[in-house]
Amino acid sequence: MPFHFRVMIVTTAQLYRVAYGKFAIGAYNINNAEQTMGLFRGCIESQAPFIIQISKGARKYTDKRMLEAIIRSAGEIFPDAIFAVHLDHGDEETCYDCIDSGFYSSVMIDASHDPFEKNIEITKRVCDRAHAKGISVEAELGMLGGVEEDIVVEEGNECLTNPDEALEFIQKTGCDALAAAIGTSHGAYKFKGQQSLHFDVIEKIAAILKAAGHAPVPIVMHGSSSVPKEEVARINAAGGKLDPSACGVNENEYLPAAKLGVTKVNIDTDGRLVWTRVHREYFRDKPGDFDFRPPGIIFQNEYAKFIAGRNKLLGSAGTIPEIRKSLGL
Ligand code: G3H
Ligand code: 13P
Ligand code: ZN
Repeated sequence: MPFHFRVMIVTTAQLYRVAYGKFAIGAYNINNAEQTMGLFRGCIESQAPFIIQISKGARKYTDKRMLEAIIRSAGEIFPDAIFAVHLDHGDEETCYDCIDSGFYSSVMIDASHDPFEKNIEITKRVCDRAHAKGISVEAELGMLGGVEEDIVVEEGNECLTNPDEALEFIQKTGCDALAAAIGTSHGAYKFKGQQSLHFDVIEKIAAILKAAGHAPVPIVMHGSSSVPKEEVARINAAGGKLDPSACGVNENEYLPAAKLGVTKVNIDTDGRLVWTRVHREYFRDKPGDFDFRPPGIIFQNEYAKFIAGRNKLLGSAGTIPEIRKSLGL
């Protein structure tokens, strides 16, 4: 992929090829410099490739050009990092902006809230335009619960991906990765009680593709934060008022899901919890302080630790040498 700068941005497709069926690549949302520094440091420390995700909200938070500049700089500060840059939950217009920018390795078109045929139509248009530039496309079928950008899906209105529809969707759109609804939702309140991922849906999608003679398609798991109980308790002990029933994905289910074809695992909420815990505890303990840099440094260190831990659970830790070899880097 002819990126015009020196840092090691690879394509999302290259990462998928190495990881599929073996481990999952962590896809982490970033909004600012502190998160970016923690992310790169955590991935270098754990020797893991990764995907940086930029949401529409993140592009608006400061300015999309600011994020691009931060990522380019991080790539220069950490020249051994191997990563791809991805648009998270894009609409058609934002996808085209990213495709035309030359900076993104992949985009997600999220037309999952439209009827099936319209979702196919929109996704196919984006795929055609992206593929012409060598950019891969993630598309969503089925509906996750929870809050994402300006869309709220009420509990009970979410629906799991139908594996038969998945085959038709993939064949008609030509998408490169499928964001499938397998029981997760965005945000901190995913499950009530002990619930598990729908491994059956992941298995059926892979089996139906195989039976149809279609090449395997990486599955993307959105809403993958584990919402650690300890993090919620610490936030609340420092003045937060999060619902203590907050609950996420069982982190021991990441790797089994990866072995079945979940190749990209999206994590955002857990990083926000780290930020909130660090800052609440810092200002609780030092109420007279107003310099944001000391807690900012603690956050970068804590976020790096968190990212390295996640990469271990995903099985991507320690795979940089393998990725380098298989990509001829
Ligand atoms: O799925 C949504 C991601 O967590 C991004 O969240 O749209 O608030 O940046 P955001
Ligand atoms: P979480 O809210 O579980 O972190 O999910 C993030 C996500 O799916 C981003 O696309
Ligand atoms: Zn998502």
